[in-house]
Amino acid sequence: MVKVLVILYNGGQAAREEPRLLGTVENELGIRPWLESLGHELVVSSSKEGPDSDFQKHIVDAEVLITTPFHPGYLTRDLVEKAKNLKICITAGVGSDHIDLNAAVDHKIQVLEVSGSNVVSVAEHVVMSILLLVRNFVPAHEMIERGDWQVSDIARNAYDLENKVVGTIGAGRIGYRVLQRLLPFDCKELLYYDYAPLPPAAAEAVKARKVDDLKEFVSQCDVVTVNAPLHEGTRGLVNAELLKHFKKGAWLVNTARGAICDKDAVAAALKSGQLSGYSGDVWNVQPAPRDHVWRTVKNPLGGGNGMVPHYSGTTLDAQARYADGAKKILENYLSGKPQEPGNVIVGIGKYETSAYGKR
Ligand code: NAI
Repeated sequence: MVKVLVILYNGGQAAREEPRLLGTVENELGIRPWLESLGHELVVSSSKEGPDSDFQKHIVDAEVLITTPFHPGYLTRDLVEKAKNLKICITAGVGSDHIDLNAAVDHKIQVLEVSGSNVVSVAEHVVMSILLLVRNFVPAHEMIERGDWQVSDIARNAYDLENKVVGTIGAGRIGYRVLQRLLPFDCKELLYYDYAPLPPAAAEAVKARKVDDLKEFVSQCDVVTVNAPLHEGTRGLVNAELLKHFKKGAWLVNTARGAICDKDAVAAALKSGQLSGYSGDVWNVQPAPRDHVWRTVKNPLGGGNGMVPHYSGTTLDAQARYADGAKKILENYLSGKPQEPGNVIVGIGKYETSAYGKR
């Protein structure tokens, strides 16, 4: 019998009414009947912080851990050391930075994610976020709700995306899909910054130019979008120093991970007008505290904030795909079948991907 521990977010009333909210505690990725019919034990909870949490209580003897980036159970090195039975961590979604991957390597714990499962969901959100910042959408909508009507107050900071330079930090599955979706907007140029070059035909298909120096890259962009995983090489990458090299009044979209952008430096840049806008769905701590500065910070004209809770990759379409993918990974594990190579982040004792940093 295998003990499977699953940490998901609470779905509440919504999950009781909408069974397609599979990534919730209530709907348990849809795996309970199947797993119990095989005689395995399933523990599902949202309680993840502190020594009394279900996460910390059950991790000591669980063999399989399934987590979601939307409500991350942070598996620190300390917890890895206590998890004596743990063999495999499965991320229901994409992005496994909440697991200490180096500790997983050291302790021969595999880490897999459902690669590709929500990359279109995120790419669409990125394009939407770029548009809502560039076109000054949020203050326009707020004005309408307030009952006001003053077109010039909005138009003074609204632009077209056409003829702007847009660049992505990271041109993997999501970054590339963002570039593909931007192509019809007739941007002046599409740029990317990534140590892994796109295959020439792929770069040509989206007419993207690689820039090797990050400061040079951001200094050429009107819009920067972050689409790289969080690891040692990207934590705090967009900090006060780098923000100085952005074009004055650029827009920044980050749906990758909150901690890639320095919280206070971004807030200060938006407040001063060095950035015209910041948008995304990821936060350095999740759930974000009520007083997190990114909830309310605005540019000097009172707009430029497109922040939402972490949901771009958890649309109902995405949940169907990552619930199914997580189940397949678990099924392979339980029956000793090989895993899809593209899903393996950490194999037994080593990284199987170069996306989490050049090593
Ligand atoms: P991917 O592995 O296909 O692509 C990541 C790319 O980033 C790779 O090309 C890699 O070389 C590049 N990269 C890594 N370090 C870099 C660095 N220091 N500078 C520049 N480029 C670097 O991953 P995918 O599917 O595109 O996802 C990227 C990230 O997006 C995930 O790791 C996750 O953190 C985030 N994500 C967010 C979601 C959301 O709901 N907001 C949902 C899914 C993913």
